Amino acid sequence: MPEVSKEIDLELLAGLLPVSTLSNLQRFRQSYQLDGEIFECLRLDQLHPTLSGNKFFKLLGHLEAFRSSGRSRLLSFGGRWSNHLHALAHAAAHLDVPSMAMVLGYPEQPLTETLRDCQRQGMALYFCNRKQYQQRYDETWRQTLSDQYDAWIIPEGGDGEAGVRGFELLQPSVIGYDEVWVAAGTGTSAIGLAENMLPSQTLVIVNAVQDQGALAERLASLSLKPRWRFADCPYSLRFGKLTPEQRQLMERADVVDLPLDPVYTVRLLSAFLHARQRGKVSDNSLLIHSGGLQGRRGMSF
Ligand SMILES: Cc1ncc(COP(=O)(O)O)c(C=O)c1O
Repeated sequence: MPEVSKEIDLELLAGLLPVSTLSNLQRFRQSYQLDGEIFECLRLDQLHPTLSGNKFFKLLGHLEAFRSSGRSRLLSFGGRWSNHLHALAHAAAHLDVPSMAMVLGYPEQPLTETLRDCQRQGMALYFCNRKQYQQRYDETWRQTLSDQYDAWIIPEGGDGEAGVRGFELLQPSVIGYDEVWVAAGTGTSAIGLAENMLPSQTLVIVNAVQDQGALAERLASLSLKPRWRFADCPYSLRFGKLTPEQRQLMERADVVDLPLDPVYTVRLLSAFLHARQRGKVSDNSLLIHSGGLQGRRGMSF
């Protein structure tokens, strides 16, 4: 596996995905033609049915940190359709580690299909109301949870320093493009990609959440290697709410066999095509498909 640095725990990798798959991620690059535009997309959603998209890369460093922590359990946070919890439950089950989740929601609500999958993988679910869930970054609460359950805490969405480590595996797939386009929530994936790009490249970030400028501030405080910018957003930013145009784009993308998730990748492609049609995108660009297709079960077409 020549392209992967020795610092990545190969034994851990092999427990999650075939090492042969990870040594040739470039093969997930595919060309598409949609709305008159031709473009390339790195279909990380095809990596694995559950550990798909950015999830595997974000979890890797956290799982490494867990292994050296001496804790016996993994604990994280997420919403009722969380792609992150879905992937974590699978990874933990695969590595034979107990997992638990603090979920924003109420126990009397019917379980979503995402949470049902998590439970099936053995993840224990604890529901939190909005007020309690807001404390998910509070160090005191996290320490209490960690001590109470002997748990290693992974931040919501796999955020944090450990969350960027696994993106090293993507370096050979992104080098060579003028622009790399990625959707952002916490921004962990964007930062992880940036660490593996060159100063001559540009990272274009499509922010899928309304965060009152928090991500912009965070990125501005880092000295990222490549140039970077936020894409113009031709869409509504109500998290999880699709406009009719976005639904139609998902349908057109389905036709060319490019399934999109309803939160991140639909916004990525919409912003990309919007910019392309205005001549604002290099012809030599790569879109990162960050997965999330399990979340489509939460939308009714
Ligand atoms: C499918 C998908 N794409 C993109 C993102 C955004 O990634 P990040 O939080 O690393 O910015 C997420 C959130 O984790 C996601 O689930």
